[in-house]
Amino acid sequence: MSFDLVLFGGTGDLCWRKLMPALFQAFKHGTLPAGVRIIGIGRDDLSDERYRALIASRFGDVELEKRPSSEEFDRFAALLEFVSMDLSKPEHYSFLKNKLDQRQADTVVMYLATAPNLFATIAEQLRAAGLNTPHTRIVLEKPLGHDLASNRAINHTVGQVFSEQQIYRIDHYLGKPAVQNLFALRFGNALFEPLWRREHIANIQITIAEELGVEKRGAFYETTGALRDMVQNHALQLLCAIGMEPPINSHADAIRDEKLKVLRSLKPWTTETLAQDVIRGQYSAGAIAGQAVPGYREELGVSPSSNTETFVALRTEIMNWRWAGVPFYIRTGKRLAGRDSRIVVNFRPTPHAIFNSQIGMANRLVINLQPKDGLELHLLAQAQDKRQNSNNLAPVHLDLDFDKRFGAERVGAYERLLLDVMDGRLNLFVRSDEQEEAWRWVEPIIDHWRNDTQGPRPYASGTWGPSATSAMIARDGSCWSEEC
Ligand code: BG6
Repeated sequence: MSFDLVLFGGTGDLCWRKLMPALFQAFKHGTLPAGVRIIGIGRDDLSDERYRALIASRFGDVELEKRPSSEEFDRFAALLEFVSMDLSKPEHYSFLKNKLDQRQADTVVMYLATAPNLFATIAEQLRAAGLNTPHTRIVLEKPLGHDLASNRAINHTVGQVFSEQQIYRIDHYLGKPAVQNLFALRFGNALFEPLWRREHIANIQITIAEELGVEKRGAFYETTGALRDMVQNHALQLLCAIGMEPPINSHADAIRDEKLKVLRSLKPWTTETLAQDVIRGQYSAGAIAGQAVPGYREELGVSPSSNTETFVALRTEIMNWRWAGVPFYIRTGKRLAGRDSRIVVNFRPTPHAIFNSQIGMANRLVINLQPKDGLELHLLAQAQDKRQNSNNLAPVHLDLDFDKRFGAERVGAYERLLLDVMDGRLNLFVRSDEQEEAWRWVEPIIDHWRNDTQGPRPYASGTWGPSATSAMIARDGSCWSEEC
């Protein structure tokens, strides 16, 4: 078997921050396919040697435990080559074709880690150069467009060049071990399934909280915002994993069919729900881990009067027999109180209380995604009270730590996804119809904000977002998991 991985955007941020470290980990674990060659593509005029030196220098910024020793890097670097290309020039694709033809690899993967406005051009040029052979796969990084129309346009163009089975749309959240565990929890265990429905579940809360601000991506983020950056993709994929019906088997399309049904069942927005059930925020100056940090409008590349949201909280429902009437809350933002992503499943209380303290207390399942990765099951136990006839309950919880259990065997998100592309497994990739449905659902929010002069609500960095977020959930008589 021989294998060519072509990385468009080979000198870009994503390449050195995520892809190269993931490829190096796979190399170290011995899981890269034999005969792999990695070709970085970029505008700069670099020799293979200079490209390797560039990647080596970038590893200095990668987490310590993922950095190679110089001897390890030398062995890995032997797989790396570089081709300088102007992506609009047909002759440069012909040059790439000649290079690939010389080797005739069994499989070629074209990884588009570039700005999405180049996807259509690259796909068309690949076709013109005859680089869309049946043994070629194409990987598209998010964001795939900035609204439904641009997303459809990209899917349409790429779809004319490659078949759906050759297209791998990345949502790196699906590659996270914790998210795969969510599928295992639901469909590998019988315990929760009978309870996984409206009769037993009061509400579900999905939180993806980041401590980081926009860092050096201010200019990109200005035209993106949290709704497009996190909700349309990562948060909705989590919602699908939590809410979908059991697929008939573990094939990619069986899983994707069920996720699509969830997206199609999301409650349509009305003027009233858009005003009440969606909150946008923007971080102002504050403190993260005791350090003062600037507000969003002071960040590099950001307009001092920007109305881009760095936080979104919303309430929705999945309108089907399993979930009708159960609120699903989604909340995500930058510069929040901690890096903390979790899904909280709040069960309904017992129908009749016989203990004194039972009222208002109920079971809760917490699915920790990051930085903790595991499950907490919150139960009630008899309180150990010195008084004789205590009739009180106390909260206790079972705590499963997957990092402790599986630590050394765990595979990072990009490593998992890259290996899946190389193996031709589509399970953890997003199909075009799923993606379009997700855009269809978020678009009324974008339109609503466009016409709303109020702008995002400010929140101090290091907090849980605008206070309106708590008021929104309180209307249902609930609270966010850190509040109660
Ligand atoms: C990316 C977003 O898709 O996900 C970033 O573009 C965000 O803005 C990142 O920071 C979060 O990913 P993770 O894996 O750090 O939770």
